[in-house]
Amino acid sequence: MTRLFHISDLHFGLEDRAALDWFKGLVRREQPDAVLITGDLTMRARTREFAAACDWIGALDMPVTVEVGNHDLPYFNPIARFFYPYRRIRGIERLVERELDLPGVAVVPLKTTARAQWRLDWSKGWVTKKALARTVAAIDALPAGTTVLVTAHHPLVEAGTRGRALTRGGARALQALAERRVAGVLTGHVHDAFDLVQSTPAGPIRMIGAGTLSQRIRSTPPSFNELRLVDGALSVRVRNVEKVPTPDMQIADVPSDALPPRAPGEPVAPVGAVPPVDPPVH
Ligand SMILES: [Fe+2]
Ligand SMILES: [Fe+2]
Repeated sequence: MTRLFHISDLHFGLEDRAALDWFKGLVRREQPDAVLITGDLTMRARTREFAAACDWIGALDMPVTVEVGNHDLPYFNPIARFFYPYRRIRGIERLVERELDLPGVAVVPLKTTARAQWRLDWSKGWVTKKALARTVAAIDALPAGTTVLVTAHHPLVEAGTRGRALTRGGARALQALAERRVAGVLTGHVHDAFDLVQSTPAGPIRMIGAGTLSQRIRSTPPSFNELRLVDGALSVRVRNVEKVPTPDMQIADVPSDALPPRAPGEPVAPVGAVPPVDPPVH
């Protein structure tokens, strides 16, 4: 059996200290095979927020993969955003967007966070052809019979008109991953957990979202997903401090444009902040 802890949206700067301590205690006691983090490590990609996130992740002392979220790109500095977006992830660079190979199981990253895109809401996801090609090539290179999980920040869902899609290129990516019989696409960004099956022209594919370990909760308390893989069969349990049963923690649909309520003390984006133009989401 392979046991993985999937966490997301830590949002250092507005982290939930009690939830993080609880999680770290569980990791120490239960020793999962790996911890998968699907993005939004920080609130504003500030140096001090990254430093706190990197310290906390480093102290987990176990195999970890990290995706980058829309909140992890330099927020107030468009030059930095374009030219060295990951400069502040010091100490954990080697964990970012890396493939993790466990016995019989591979965790393959898919980049959905765009530095720039031709629409105003930069918080949304975008799977470029290049990013998808890289992920697909990594999957195709795995030994036959490997159970594959894909990690990304944004759920690969396109809803509404093209401009309002949660993740541009998401449907195409889901189809390519379904074609390769990927066991699950693990994402964050929504701040509520879900475990849904999406049909594609290439067959069904499972989309699994983790909640948040920050104060920016949406409709459920802080949580993470415990994944168990036994002979290729994947089960998900949403663990949370309040011990709410998994079915009650999981939302029934992926919202295309969900804004978590502002947490107590959360600052309003300063006037003139560039970019994004829209208020920060997720
Ligand atoms: Fe996000
Ligand atoms: Fe988030």
